[in-house]
Amino acid sequence: MTHEPRAALPGKKGDRLAGKVAVVTGIAAGIGKGVALMFAQQGAQVVGCDIDAAGARNTVDEAQAQGLALTSLHPLDLTEPAAVQRLMDETAKLHGGIDIVVNAAAFGAFKWLEEMDYEMDWRKTLVGEIDIVFLACKAAWPHLKRRGGGSVINFASANARMALPLSPALAHCAGKGAVLAMSRQLAMEGSAHGIRVNTISPALVETAATRHPLDHIEGFREHVLAKFMVKRLGQPADIGWLAIYLASDESTWVTAADFNIDGGATAW
Ligand SMILES: NC(=O)c1ccc[n+]([C@@H]2O[C@H](COP(=O)([O-])OP(=O)(O)OC[C@H]3O[C@@H](n4cnc5c(N)ncnc54)[C@H](O)[C@@H]3O)[C@@H](O)[C@H]2O)c1
Repeated sequence: MTHEPRAALPGKKGDRLAGKVAVVTGIAAGIGKGVALMFAQQGAQVVGCDIDAAGARNTVDEAQAQGLALTSLHPLDLTEPAAVQRLMDETAKLHGGIDIVVNAAAFGAFKWLEEMDYEMDWRKTLVGEIDIVFLACKAAWPHLKRRGGGSVINFASANARMALPLSPALAHCAGKGAVLAMSRQLAMEGSAHGIRVNTISPALVETAATRHPLDHIEGFREHVLAKFMVKRLGQPADIGWLAIYLASDESTWVTAADFNIDGGATAW
């Protein structure tokens, strides 16, 4: 048995999401990029977006080189209600509806309580982690209803349940705890319309967002690895395989659930 990640596969390799239209936020980097490419590899029509236009364009280029159906609106600031509405409306207009929404984009400031500025760090993180999910769900909701249902995937975090030594994650813990709680409520509100809502709670996945602490906080990498039963860091593809399952019709009985995908970190 190997604990190596099953890599994302180049090119279109499956049909688990064939015929589905997916909006994936935050496709310029990390998990959102991985999910967007893997969804397209499974036959979904993917519309991405990011505030980082160069990164998003790069992801679209990668998709095109693989012959995948992935377009993107960028730069697009998901904290702007009108921009989010445009993303959902244009996607529905272009592809006839929306079946899947993956809210991978997020912004979080990582500072200790005493260094945390109320406006620039605390409030910006709550907007970047909570409002960003609220606005996308609200704008997509009528389109999902019109389709007779769909799947929303939000990102909570191991940090919604657990403090990690050496990580100044106060605002992030609050933001992700909120995403976890609001996703259960959204699942209840969506149930009458066939809309399923689940959360994925990763522990540390190697992305642009985690590179700084991994490379610069002394002892951080060792602390993180010590928490894992599987002794390696998470990779976007680890998350992508779960997201494919939650987005597909393989999971039609699954809603209001949270999935720890964390190498065992939160189990002991
Ligand atoms: N990487 C981890 O270890 C980890 C662990 C737990 C949870 N998560 C969550 O998973 C999700 C993806 O994480 P990641 O590590 O890939 O993040 P990341 O920072 O690498 O990528 C996030 C993307 O969102 C975009 N973005 C941020 N604010 C935006 C805005 N206002 N409008 C549009 N785009 C915006 C960024 O430009 C970036 O491309 C996030 O919700 C994150 O909190 C990540």
